[in-house]
Amino acid sequence: MKHFIITFKPDDKQISIHAGATLFEAAGKAGIILNTVCGGKGTCGKCVVKLEPDGQEVLACQYHIQSDLTVTIPGSSRFFEQKILEHGIDTQIDLAATVHKKYLEKGATEKIFGIAVDIGTTTVVAKLINMADGECHATEAALNPQSRYGDDVISRIAYAQTDEKLAELHKAIIDCVNDLTTKLCQKSSINANHIYEICVVGNTTMNHIFLKLPVTQLGQAPYKAFSLDAHDIPAAQLHLEMNPAGNIHTVENIAGFVGSDTIAVALAVDIDSAEETTLVVDIGTNGELVLGTKEKLYAASCAAGPALEGARITCGSRAAEGAIEAVVVNEDDIYLDVIGNCPARSICGSGLIDAVAVMLDLGVIDQTGRFVEPAKLEGKVPPAIFSRIREEHGQPTFVLSENDGASKVFLTQKDIRETQLAKAAIRAGIKLLQKRIGLEDCDIEHILLAGAFGNYIRKESALRIGLLPAVPVEKIRFVGNAAASGARMLLVSRQCRDKARELARKIEYIEIAHEPEFTDVFADSILF
Ligand code: FES
Repeated sequence: MKHFIITFKPDDKQISIHAGATLFEAAGKAGIILNTVCGGKGTCGKCVVKLEPDGQEVLACQYHIQSDLTVTIPGSSRFFEQKILEHGIDTQIDLAATVHKKYLEKGATEKIFGIAVDIGTTTVVAKLINMADGECHATEAALNPQSRYGDDVISRIAYAQTDEKLAELHKAIIDCVNDLTTKLCQKSSINANHIYEICVVGNTTMNHIFLKLPVTQLGQAPYKAFSLDAHDIPAAQLHLEMNPAGNIHTVENIAGFVGSDTIAVALAVDIDSAEETTLVVDIGTNGELVLGTKEKLYAASCAAGPALEGARITCGSRAAEGAIEAVVVNEDDIYLDVIGNCPARSICGSGLIDAVAVMLDLGVIDQTGRFVEPAKLEGKVPPAIFSRIREEHGQPTFVLSENDGASKVFLTQKDIRETQLAKAAIRAGIKLLQKRIGLEDCDIEHILLAGAFGNYIRKESALRIGLLPAVPVEKIRFVGNAAASGARMLLVSRQCRDKARELARKIEYIEIAHEPEFTDVFADSILF
């Protein structure tokens, strides 16, 4: 088959690819990940690139290569390197490192290492652990390379409908884990042969793709997992860089949309010992919730979508350099915090939650999320704020930043609606779990926010927009990347693996979309 040379600017990367491939695939091959809000359907317009020399703009996912090309990728189409939250909480339960003993019995003499991996829909975090004492020697993180096939689990499921496509996604994550392993080994000056055990957690879709199990049924009601079990697989079977005598352990899933990462979070925060009612919220593209006490635990998942991570928002992006991450009212105007202290060029999830909270406080939008007519605000808000209320593309907008017109960052009415839908999905999930257990907001003693995104949002703003139940702010605590912390525990300790099995049995999964009150509760949760 004929091949063509594609050069990407400004990276100056060059690759060779077969005729008919899309520019999207070519960029992926060059290691450049583009935005894919629509999963390559050509509807979101977030993957625009320019063909040189005339600068013609095309959608990378729709453009089929028929010649050598030079292509410029604008920053706005890149899936930015985002701040990846590598650290989690300190383990709260005793960690008896017992798994490594089987390798000692088999005669392993040198140091025995393991890797704990948390495969998120967006990011992958890997930790190099000394199997004898559970100590973490190094951490590495990367964007999940499957992101080029779509930015949520639904698009990945839709992509992996044939064995070949599933194998493609599977290979992408295996290559990613191998890259992380190489980096971890280099950092700690060890050989991959010293890695005897790898423990992987992730949502059910990520777990299935990692194991190359069918995912089609996860995309259709009743959304059943192909397997909820833990698996132990010989090293050679998955082509992972490790000792050939090693083992790969994956952890139990709870249901089709609540996976082993939730088990890992539950284990890390030791929810199984909670005397007081505790709510764990793992905010991501797919939000996972666990609520209860040691007596009884319930879990649910809510399809928040990627809006709170900055996608589907006109000027939205991941938490990357140039993204507004915080917005506060500063006397008679607003003050912005921009990642990297550079001119703002986008807004990420935490900034979005702040901005909406500020707009509510200022009365720019009302409780229903609608922009208030400017005439009604004149004289009621400071002039600097009033001048930020404009119209863009026929929609009311609130301008957060403009740098001599070069890059304007604003929120439109549609952006507010997207934010409302995302927060309503999470809040409705929490309310329906509360209803099932018979709990009011005031009965919740602790809210633990987990996940890469949870740590960067301001608690006050999350409460202001109604993302979380109305509890005093001091009851909310961040627990960092608790899934990665749980994966470390599951890597080294048999007792933790036993506990994971118990938790998987004990946590009752509630399919909130099937609750009779779902529609009403969701509609109610849309309001601020
Ligand atoms: S338009 Fe190309 S990924 Fe959406």
